Amino acid sequence: MKKKKVSIIGAGHVGASTAQLLAHSGISDIVLFDIVDGMPKGKALDLSEACPLWNSASSVTGTSDYAETAGSDVIVVTAGIARKPGMSRDDLLKTNAEVVSAVGRGIAAGSPDAVIIAVTNPMDVMAHLLFKTTGFPHHRVMGMGGVLDAARFSTFVAWELNVSPGVVNSVILGGHGDQMVPMPRFTTVNGVPVTELISSDRIDALVERTRGGGAEIVSLLKTGSAYYAPAAATFQMIKAVLFDEKRPLPAACYLTGQYGIDGLYVGVPAILGASGVEKIITLTLNEKEREAFAKSAGAVAGLVKILNI
Ligand code: NAI
Ligand code: 2OP
Repeated sequence: MKKKKVSIIGAGHVGASTAQLLAHSGISDIVLFDIVDGMPKGKALDLSEACPLWNSASSVTGTSDYAETAGSDVIVVTAGIARKPGMSRDDLLKTNAEVVSAVGRGIAAGSPDAVIIAVTNPMDVMAHLLFKTTGFPHHRVMGMGGVLDAARFSTFVAWELNVSPGVVNSVILGGHGDQMVPMPRFTTVNGVPVTELISSDRIDALVERTRGGGAEIVSLLKTGSAYYAPAAATFQMIKAVLFDEKRPLPAACYLTGQYGIDGLYVGVPAILGASGVEKIITLTLNEKEREAFAKSAGAVAGLVKILNI
């Protein structure tokens, strides 16, 4: 069977960490693309030299030439700048829009059947931009944010209850921004809603920590933003697509009337498989959740409007 091919555009912290997870698992060949001369080749060589130690048959190529990404099954876009202390994800809008537009134009022709996963922030808007610049059907362009935010919420719930993080299943809605909407009612510990296990005051505190989860790491790192958990989240989405897992995951998806929203990328639970977003799951929200979701989606729509896309 022919090995799958995953291209990662932007060989920085998130891109290289995602490549490491792929190479370690051996589930695909990998192309690492970056505009910085030599850097993607250096990282690819380093990862290639780790493959014998991991017993991995992945081939890892570093390049600054889009031609080498041709025939990709999945393309992850992490190119752009990351946050520095005091910056919100939205402060990255204009710079990253230029970068991501160039990326969209660079990748589309060579990999017409690829599924694209946007990571660059502000991610929901960058997913929209990749949808527009590639001309791909919307189900083959999605964004990573909810998987990371859900993992953060799961971590904080697990610490609160002193349980293994793997037994916490979190649901998150909305844009990957400060107004994201963690959903305690749908978040469970082995099937038991956290609303049965944690007081509402404490849940509110965990929700707030999750909303500020990215900024908390930025303020500690001082020179950039999180990358280990973002790479792990991206890897989970890549696997869902490559193995046609039909896995329900929170992803930025193009809504066409679901949740009362039309023509916008925003985070919702979706079934991910070989064709990308195969089904959007529509949850019945209470009034407070509906308001919070509308506010978060409104923030994404505001940024899309600034870019006029
Ligand atoms: P980084 O600065 O380590 O890497 C970005 C890379 O993009 C650099 O190597 C840079 O040379 C490259 N680049 C810049 N312009 C390019 C172009 N035109 N073509 C190809 N490559 C280009 O940043 P990091 O930490 O990897 O973050 C990348 C992006 O992902 C940031 O926008 C960050 O905010 C976002 N992010 C999003 C997350 C999410 O949950 N959606 C989580 C973590 C980061
Ligand atoms: C994060 O949530 C910066 O979006 C990135 O860590």
